[in-house]
Amino acid sequence: MRFLLNVIRNIGLRVKNSLFSSVGTRISSFLKTKHFNSLNDKENFVTLEKRIDDCEAQIKQLSSIIQKELNLPLPPPKHLQIRVVGSYHPDFIESGFSSIYPVLNRILKTDDKKLKDFRTILDFGCGCGRAIRALATLVPESKLYGTDIDEEAIQWLKNNYSKFAEFYITPHLPPTEYKEEMFDFIFGISVLTHLPEDMQFQWLAELNRITKRNGYVVLTTHGEKHYLKLDSNAAGIMKKKGFYYHQAGFNYGKSISLPDFYQTAYHSHDYIKREWSIYFQIVDIHTLGIDNHQDVILLKKV
Ligand SMILES: C[S@@+](CC[C@H](N)C(=O)[O-])C[C@H]1O[C@@H](n2cnc3c(N)ncnc32)[C@H](O)[C@@H]1O
Repeated sequence: MRFLLNVIRNIGLRVKNSLFSSVGTRISSFLKTKHFNSLNDKENFVTLEKRIDDCEAQIKQLSSIIQKELNLPLPPPKHLQIRVVGSYHPDFIESGFSSIYPVLNRILKTDDKKLKDFRTILDFGCGCGRAIRALATLVPESKLYGTDIDEEAIQWLKNNYSKFAEFYITPHLPPTEYKEEMFDFIFGISVLTHLPEDMQFQWLAELNRITKRNGYVVLTTHGEKHYLKLDSNAAGIMKKKGFYYHQAGFNYGKSISLPDFYQTAYHSHDYIKREWSIYFQIVDIHTLGIDNHQDVILLKKV
């Protein structure tokens, strides 16, 4: 029995310390809930341990080939991925290709545009570069820029993704260092979903300043699907005003190493049409247009 426990502990620790950390934790806690008595169980553990070792070796070898021979940077560290999407998911890199890129093209098509039409593109609130990595491959002719308030993420991007784009730490409030009318296209995936109303207005004005005339901006919001689930007080505010900024009981922003103001915001379509049209022409709104989760808004500077 002691042998088996040692094996379990070993597997747990080794896997936990490897690239499979979340799987490893799950396997070891699952195993700890079981009773193992037979020789068969012991053999299964040893086989499992060997297979995990093989996977680890294979991943390290592939990583070396990717970095040394193909000169491609590895994905961002786990904690930076979790900070932007809330989990460490196998599809993190893939989602830039199979979700963000088609979502942007789909809404741009409303005005007969596509990403390839734009020479200068800014990812506003780029996090750790999920979209930029995909766009660097899919729209190689465009010059890409990424900005975020998250200093750690931008530093990581400067160190690892500088071949894909130019990165800049943005202040919490405008102005940015970008020149007037610098960008043909700006997009911000799940950024205004976290800001209080006054900050949102300041950023809309700044995005307007740095977008070229006849250029486009795409932003995403938490729409009806989300605010219909809110409590009666919040639902009342949404009904009356169409915008609600929810401050979680605990310090949500700080809990993921972002500032206090980083909370959760909700927008109705009427509110967007009324308030955002001061800054941009509202071209189209795709309800749940990204991953059946957030609404996608296409704006034009006219
Ligand atoms: C939910 S994450 C999404 C990140 C990225 N757009 C993606 O889809 O992977 C929101 C990001 O917005 C950034 N952010 C929040 N306020 C910002 C601001 N005023 N200017 C730029 N980025 C901001 C956060 O630091 C965070 O990286």
